[in-house]
Amino acid sequence: MSAGPLENGALWWRSAVIYQVYIRSFADGDGDGIGDISGLRLRLPYLAALGIDAVWITPWYPSPMKDGGYDVADLRAIEPLFGTVADAEAMIAEAHDLGLRILLDIVPNHFSDQHPWFREALAAAPGSPERARFIFRDGVGPDGSEPPNDWMSNFGGLAWTRVTEADGLPGQWYLHLFTPEQPDVDWTNAEVRAEFDQTMRFWFGLGVDGFRIDVAHGLAKADGLPDVGSTMWPPVTAEVVDHPHWDRDDVHEIYRSWRSLADTYDDPRVFVAEAWVHNPGRLAQYVRADELHTAFNFDFLLAPWDAETMRESIIDSLAAHEAVGAPATWVLSNHDTVREVSRYARPQDERRLRKLDDLTDLPADFALGRRRARAAALLMLALPGGAYVYQGEELGLAEVEDLPEDVLQDPGWEQSGRTERGRDGCRVPIPWSGPAPPFGFSPEGASAPPWLPQPLAWRELTVEAQTGDQQSMLELYRRALRIRRSQPELGDGRLTWLDVPDGTLAFGRGARFACIVNFSGDPVPLPGGAHVLLASGPLTDDGRVPRDTSVWLTT
Ligand code: NOJ
Repeated sequence: MSAGPLENGALWWRSAVIYQVYIRSFADGDGDGIGDISGLRLRLPYLAALGIDAVWITPWYPSPMKDGGYDVADLRAIEPLFGTVADAEAMIAEAHDLGLRILLDIVPNHFSDQHPWFREALAAAPGSPERARFIFRDGVGPDGSEPPNDWMSNFGGLAWTRVTEADGLPGQWYLHLFTPEQPDVDWTNAEVRAEFDQTMRFWFGLGVDGFRIDVAHGLAKADGLPDVGSTMWPPVTAEVVDHPHWDRDDVHEIYRSWRSLADTYDDPRVFVAEAWVHNPGRLAQYVRADELHTAFNFDFLLAPWDAETMRESIIDSLAAHEAVGAPATWVLSNHDTVREVSRYARPQDERRLRKLDDLTDLPADFALGRRRARAAALLMLALPGGAYVYQGEELGLAEVEDLPEDVLQDPGWEQSGRTERGRDGCRVPIPWSGPAPPFGFSPEGASAPPWLPQPLAWRELTVEAQTGDQQSMLELYRRALRIRRSQPELGDGRLTWLDVPDGTLAFGRGARFACIVNFSGDPVPLPGGAHVLLASGPLTDDGRVPRDTSVWLTT
C-alpha cells in the first residue's frame, strides 16, 4: 500500500509524521557495509507502506565523517560513499511519486575543517577576510597560549584549537563547539549568510521539501565572546539563562530570513529546528509565524515514563506552540539519544536519561521498556501536531549497549578520554531480513560487514520477522499510522483532557476519538459504548487498560 500522492497541500507539515533516516545505517545498496542512497531507494516502498508522510535524511554531504557527517566539507554535493547528486535527484523523484516528502539536514553552525573555506582561512593571515568567515581570536596571556575564553566543546575538552601560522609559530585560536574538525562559522559574516542561502536554493531546486536545522540554537554568539562562567546548560533553574552561545535572541533574525527564502517557492518548503533550549516557551520562539515551521520537542523526549511529568510536558508544549500559532511536534528518540526501549527499561525517576552513560548503571527490564515504548508510540501519534519516528523505533530496537570499544566511532568517545561511550548504540544498522547479520542491511555477497556490528538477537526483530505478526512493534506502528491517516481528528488540532485517576492520562481528539494511557495507575475501565481501535498491549480479562498500556478508542 503506498501513501499515495503528496497530500494535505500547503499545510502538510502541521500533521506530518516524519521518519528519520540516519543514512549510514538505514540500507546499504552497494555492499560496502555503509548505508547509502541506492539502499534508501530500494526501501522507499517500505517507508511509503509504513504510512509516514516525509523522510528526514541526516547529512549526506562530502565529509571526513569526524562526526557522522555533521562535519560537512561541501554543502552542495553528495558524499561518494552515499552516491551522487544524480542518485539523490532520482531518489527525491521516486519518493515524491510514492507520496513521501524529503527533508535534508542543514548544518549551519560549523563546517568540516576540510571545507575549502577553512583551508583558505588556515593559509591566510590573522585579520583576513578568509579568517573572518570563522571565529578566530588571539589567545590570552603574554604569548597568547591560553584560549580566548572558557568555552567547552560539546564532546568534552576546550572549544578552541590553536593554529600554526605561516611562520611556523603558534598563532590564533579558532572556535569549535563540537569537534576540532568542526570549526564554527561566523553568522555575522555576509558571505556565510549568502553561502547558506545558495545552498538552500540548490537543494530546493532539486525538489527537496525542507531542512532539519542542526544546532539551530547555536548560531549566534554573544558580542565579545564572554566567558560562560558557571552558567549551566541545559539550565537547571526555572529562570531563563543568558548563555553566551546557546539560544541567543539574535539567532531568530537568521530564521526570519530563511523563512522568507522558503516562502518564495510555490510548493512550500519547511524547516524543523534542532534546538535544545530551556523550556517549551523558549522553543516556541523558533516557530513564530515568520520563522521556522516546527521544532523538535526534546522536553517530551526527555520526560520520564510518568503520567504527571508527561502531562505537564504536553500541556506546556501545546500552550507555548498555540500562543504562536504553530503545531507542536512529538519525538521519542533520534540518532543522538538513547533509544526509548532502553530508557523506559530503567527506573523512571530521572528526568534526563539522554546519554548511555546516564543509565548503564541502572537496573533494566527490557520487556517493560518495550511495553512502555509501545504505549508511548500510541500516545505520541495521538497528540496534536506532527511526530518524528527514528529508524528502528518502529522495530522496537533497543540501544546496543555493549558495542566493543574498538568499533566505537562517536567523537565523544575519544574526546571524553574514553569515558563516555557516546551515541553509536542507537546508530547500529537496521535489520531487514534473514537469520544472521547483516540482516539484509547489505546485499548478498557484500564486501564488508555493517560498519557497526548488529546483535544476533535482532534476528527476531527484522522487518521480515515482524511483518504479519500482529503482536509486533512494526505491525503496531503500521496500524497506528494507518488509523492516523484515516481519522481526520488526528494530527493538527486540539485535545480535550478527560478525567482519569492518578497515574493515567486520557484525552479526546474531536468528538469521537480518545486515547487512554495508563502509566502506573490501577487498571482503567473503558468509557461506556467505546470501541477499541488499537491497544498497545493486552487489556485485563475484564476489559480494562492495565499499566504501561495505551488504547485508542472511538465511540
Ligand atoms: C546535532 C546532531 O544531531 C549531532 O549528531 C551532531 O553531533 C551535532 N549536532 C553537531 O553537528
